[in-house]
Amino acid sequence: MPTMGESFDLTQTDALLTTTRAVRKRLDLARPVPHELLLECVRIAAQAPSGGNVQMTRWVFVEDPARRAGLAELYRRAYEPYIAEQKRALDASGRTDMDKIVSSSDYLAAHLHEVPVLLVPCALGRPEGAIHGSVAGFYGSILPAVWSFMLAARSRGLGTAWTTLHLAYEQEAAELLSIPPTVTQVALIPIGFYTGEGFRAGTRRPAEEIAYLDAWKESF
Ligand SMILES: Cc1cc2nc3c(=O)[nH]c(=O)nc-3n(C[C@H](O)[C@H](O)[C@H](O)COP(=O)(O)O)c2cc1C
Repeated sequence: MPTMGESFDLTQTDALLTTTRAVRKRLDLARPVPHELLLECVRIAAQAPSGGNVQMTRWVFVEDPARRAGLAELYRRAYEPYIAEQKRALDASGRTDMDKIVSSSDYLAAHLHEVPVLLVPCALGRPEGAIHGSVAGFYGSILPAVWSFMLAARSRGLGTAWTTLHLAYEQEAAELLSIPPTVTQVALIPIGFYTGEGFRAGTRRPAEEIAYLDAWKESF
C-alpha cells in the first residue's frame, strides 16, 4: 500500500465523496467484474477504523447464478410490500420528488439477480441484547469499511448501491451462503461496472442546518 504525501487533489477526492451515488439503473449487467479488482477494494476498505482494531469484517462476494437468484428472491420478498406501502404513502401525499428513486429501486429489484456480483458484508458476532454502546461499536466497526469499499469501487469504474431489505430474511440468506449463525450480515451491495459518464452530487440538507455548535440546535 503506498504512503501518501501531505497534499491531496481535493477536486478528485471531493468529487469521489460527493458523487458516489446509489447506482441501480446504470449497472452493466453483461460485463463481469474481475476478482482482483474486488480484492483491491477490500484491501483499501480494510484500512477503515474498527473499535480496538478488531477487524471483524468479512466480505462475501456472490457470483454463482443460483445463489444470486436466491438472494434476489429474498430481496424482492421484502421489497414488494415495502415499496407498495411507500407508493401508497407517496400517492396520498401527492409528492413526486421521489419518483426517480422509486423507479430506480423498482429496476434494481427486478434485475438484482442479473447484477454480476452481490456483496454481503458481514461482521463476526451478533449484536442482539448488547447495550447501546456495544451495538454502536459493533456496527461502527464495519460500516465505515463498507463505505470505503464503495468509494474504492466507484473510483475504479464500479457502481454499487447500499441495500438492507433482504435482512428481513437474513437467516434464509445465511443458509444460502453457508454463513454461520454467529455472524451478522449488514447489507447487500450489488456491484457492476457503471455505464455512461460520471455522477452528480445529490440533494442534501445545507450544512448550516444540520451542524450545531456547542449544544443541540445552537447554530454556527
Ligand atoms: C442503511 C441504508 C439502507 C438502504 N437500503 C436500500 C435498499 O434496501 N434498497 C435500495 O434500493 N436502496 C437502499 N439504500 C440506498 C438509499 O436509498 C440511497 O442511498 C438514498 O436514496 C440516497 O441516494 P444516493 O445514495 O444516490 O444519493 C439504502 C441506503 C442506506 C444508507
